[in-house]
Amino acid sequence: MGITARHVGKMIGEPPTRILSDINLEINNGEFLALTGRSGSGKSTLLYLLSTLDRVSQGEVQIDGQNVGKMEPEMIHRFRNANMGFIFQFHYLLAELNTLENVLMPARKSGRQVEREHYARSLLKQFDLGDKMHRLPRQLSGGEQQRVAIARALVMEPQYLFADEPTGSLDSVNGENVMNIIRDANERLNVTVIMVTHESDFARLAKRQVHLVDGKIQ
Ligand SMILES: Nc1ncnc2c1ncn2[C@@H]1O[C@H](COP(=O)(O)OP(=O)(O)OP(=O)(O)O)[C@@H](O)[C@H]1O
Ligand SMILES: [Mg+2]
Repeated sequence: MGITARHVGKMIGEPPTRILSDINLEINNGEFLALTGRSGSGKSTLLYLLSTLDRVSQGEVQIDGQNVGKMEPEMIHRFRNANMGFIFQFHYLLAELNTLENVLMPARKSGRQVEREHYARSLLKQFDLGDKMHRLPRQLSGGEQQRVAIARALVMEPQYLFADEPTGSLDSVNGENVMNIIRDANERLNVTVIMVTHESDFARLAKRQVHLVDGKIQ
């Protein structure tokens, strides 16, 4: 069980330019994988393909043996919402929702808000945000907002966690905090983590590193 990329290629733009070629990768459930490489090497593009947020141009991505390209969009959407958490460099909290409401957004989308609320509160306490549950994003610091976004990514207890430079906008203390939270999710909850990072210190925390050069795995 896990995510498999077979001969995956990606072209973007008009005229199409090649961004990724012949990516072969097998990620087993419970793994912690870091995607590294220089700026422009294709890390984010690959993360989007592996997480079903984007479609391949060649080859296929399989999740638990199912070809994502052959799944109904509605089904992919439901699968993603229930089984995948996302942490982006910029956290995209909804400005008009408070901390707790932001964290519960994925649960609300699938009508499981009431059931998930207890867990949302416990995550926020764990992230030192227990007394800030009713603040709006603009009333939080950047590091606090990022932790809200991470709580949101974990609230459904997803099997997969995708992170694109999760520490990119944080100072070193908060960066380390976030990394500890991600590592904990992997070690204690057995969440499969796929993380893009520039920082070699953080990449070393992963159990496996995949290095991209010009859209190919090195
Ligand atoms: N929508 C797009 N149209 C055209 N080219 C694109 C598009 N998105 C990405 N690219 C190009 O694809 C290449 C890979 O981009 P990608 O965002 O995957 O790189 P990255 O490794 O994540 O870089 P960074 O570390 O800077 O975030 C880059 O050369 C980029 O310019
Ligand atoms: Mg990127």
